[in-house]
Amino acid sequence: MGSLPVSEKPHALCIPYPAQGHINPMLKLAKLLHFRGFHITFVNTEFNHKRLLKSRGPTSLDGLPSFRFETIPDGLPVSDFDATQDIPSLCESTRRTCLPPFRDLLHQLNTSSDVPPVTCIVSDGVMSFTLDAAHELGIPEVIFWTTSACGFLCYVHYRHLIEKGLTPLKDPSYLTDGYLDTVIDWIPGIKEIRLRDIPTFIRTTNPDEFMLDFVTGECARAQRASAIILNTFDALEHDVLEGLSSILPPVYSIGPLNLLINDVTDKDLKSIGSNLWKEETECLEWLDTKEPNSVVYVNFGSITVMTNKQLIEFAWGLANSNQTFLWVIRPDLVGGDNAVLPAEFVQETKNRGRLYSWCPQEQVLAHPAIGGFLTHSGWNSTLESMCGGVVMVCWPFFAEQQTNCRFSCKEWGIGLEIDSDVTMEGVERLVTELMEGEKGKEMKKKALEWKKMAQEAASEGAGSSFRNLETVVQRVLLAGT
Ligand code: UDX
Repeated sequence: MGSLPVSEKPHALCIPYPAQGHINPMLKLAKLLHFRGFHITFVNTEFNHKRLLKSRGPTSLDGLPSFRFETIPDGLPVSDFDATQDIPSLCESTRRTCLPPFRDLLHQLNTSSDVPPVTCIVSDGVMSFTLDAAHELGIPEVIFWTTSACGFLCYVHYRHLIEKGLTPLKDPSYLTDGYLDTVIDWIPGIKEIRLRDIPTFIRTTNPDEFMLDFVTGECARAQRASAIILNTFDALEHDVLEGLSSILPPVYSIGPLNLLINDVTDKDLKSIGSNLWKEETECLEWLDTKEPNSVVYVNFGSITVMTNKQLIEFAWGLANSNQTFLWVIRPDLVGGDNAVLPAEFVQETKNRGRLYSWCPQEQVLAHPAIGGFLTHSGWNSTLESMCGGVVMVCWPFFAEQQTNCRFSCKEWGIGLEIDSDVTMEGVERLVTELMEGEKGKEMKKKALEWKKMAQEAASEGAGSSFRNLETVVQRVLLAGT
């Protein structure tokens, strides 16, 4: 397909939700589609486009003749370039304002002589306004939910939790009196799950809670998609995927995308990255000097915000564990003011700890020196950890991270959960167990098994995710050509 004249090439327009954990997997998918002969238009928000140019350099989004970047406004007032945008405000704004500029962009592309007409749309699951545009043009749209399948399945059942009166909560005491330990055993695909492991937007007493309504609505609209894809693999979430398949349009697991992308050998394409903060690659050189499995990696992703008190509990927990560590403290990780670490902590750990503000995480987690990961259980972080065979201490922050944590610890056997009310003693105990304890060793074995299964799923030709991606391309994305 690669040598077709421009006008006959299939053209996929890929549009992620404008946050780091969504842009990364969508960019990988876009590269995989390009490799399979598609002309690609990748749509960022104007705000993120500027951030990417700042973090990655002025030519970083030049793309290739057949892989182009376009922008639409997100509808929000311009804010600090180094900080994550407020998620509920961004969801409200994209839902309310993005369809008209998105339609305009499609019109512009479809009337241009430089690019082939758009033949399909691949859109993030929480950008479902795009479905209206796809329907108007009569082209297929694949919806990409960038969460785990277990997280997505819980979201899909939000409407039943509401119907059954389990959320919104009757009053704030329900948040603390054990109510969240209520066990749900009626979600097909999940044997048992506590309310506290269900994505956090149900933890509200407000009947008009925006995020609860937003996610419920986005799940309902997914019914209109030509297919739904997830960055996971069948061996990992088989039952959950079956549960989803029984109630939604065709569902395909096509992950881990960070392993499938190994297919793509084009050097120019490889150099296109998506980090919104500038990567400090020197951490890799430091890791090169360390023994295998000897370093704890600490990173809470792009959205988590903690108090300075919590930061200090983590700091002393790490110091007291006596482990070597690589800790990434994002510029906006601590709410309100900047992160302030005690001078004694910095002094005490200066020979065995390194602090950075953003790192090339996939490479870090694939580095042999990393023995454990203290994480917020974001889905990309969880998968990247699994692909590196790295065991985790989980401190989920919000959304479906609680579900990812539950599955990592109870179903997949590769995580230890830390109390949300974090203490230095808890951090010290779990990090030590992870790096030196019997449980840690058992988990490591399990993590290596999952790593192998992830590689099998992604393997060219026979892997389940590889085959699923081929099926989506042939049956759905090329159906409009
Ligand atoms: C969020 C949710 O956590 C996730 O569960 C949801 O599915 C998508 O949005 P985020 O909190 O940022 O994303 O975490 P995560 O999903 O782990 O994504 C972070 C991404 O940024 C990962 O791909 C990670 O490799 C990358 N990253 C993070 C870096 O490259 N460097 C860093 O220093 C930190």
